[in-house]
Amino acid sequence: MTNYSDRRRLNGRHVIVTGAYGGIGRALCKNVRSLGARVTAIDVVSDADDPLWGELEADFISLDVGASAEDVTAAVADVGPVHGLANVAAVESIANFPDFDDEEFARVMNINARGPLYLMQALRPEMEDQASVVNIITMDALVVLKTIEKSSALYAASKAALAMLTRELAAELGPAGIRVNGVAPGLTDTPMTAIMPEERRRWIVDNTALGRIGQPEDIAATTAFLLSPAARFITGQIVPVDGGLGTAIYGPPELAV
Ligand SMILES: NC(=O)c1ccc[n+]([C@@H]2O[C@H](COP(=O)([O-])OP(=O)(O)OC[C@H]3O[C@@H](n4cnc5c(N)ncnc54)[C@H](O)[C@@H]3O)[C@@H](O)[C@H]2O)c1
Repeated sequence: MTNYSDRRRLNGRHVIVTGAYGGIGRALCKNVRSLGARVTAIDVVSDADDPLWGELEADFISLDVGASAEDVTAAVADVGPVHGLANVAAVESIANFPDFDDEEFARVMNINARGPLYLMQALRPEMEDQASVVNIITMDALVVLKTIEKSSALYAASKAALAMLTRELAAELGPAGIRVNGVAPGLTDTPMTAIMPEERRRWIVDNTALGRIGQPEDIAATTAFLLSPAARFITGQIVPVDGGLGTAIYGPPELAV
């Protein structure tokens, strides 16, 4: 008889998580470790002596994923066989339209889109049949949430590039039995969003069917599922994990009839 819960497990599998120091990356390391995976964590802000990696039972590689192809390849040269890669690391843009410049464009694109591409390239020789890649996108790449002066344009464009890389590479790697999917979180409670103005947070919650913002574990759970053999027939998809953001457009009470 098929044991469905076994397919959710990651025993004997090696999963690499970038952005592992942050909110979603950290939750994902915990989740996949609890499912039995060996975890290699990557981030730019930590070092191997950080006690966090012992707590998470993860090996650690210090890497700026926005670095050159040569540096990215060198950093992961010795990781051995890989069954899962979660590209979680990303940055928001610190500039607003019309003040984007070459430096800011390159910084955001290199970390958010080029980095995942270079990691997929560097790790491809180590990816076994049934390996799974999950790229963390954002709902901002799929729909424009225009509520404040700050521009999401460059961040959203970098993630839209990653979304299309996800679909293209799913088609290229499918014949080798390698799956590539994306997860598109809605607003999630992490250091990245801690400074968001309360009015914007409230507006998003008010337009979310489940009436709350996401927790890092919510995003980690779907990502871990896509990394597991239970998702073995899913590839090329971008899965929204947003509590039903925009499922309905809620009007003010005075419009009710
Ligand atoms: N929090 C949200 O509301 C939300 C919504 C949609 C999508 N996302 C996406 O989820 C992912 C995780 O975001 P988070 O909210 O956990 O943010 P976070 O800021 O808590 O974590 C991001 C991590 O990436 C690391 N990082 C940044 N630049 C790096 C680089 N050049 N090289 C290596 N590591 C680098 C940071 O050090 C940090 O640990 C990101 O891809 C983000 O775009 C987040």
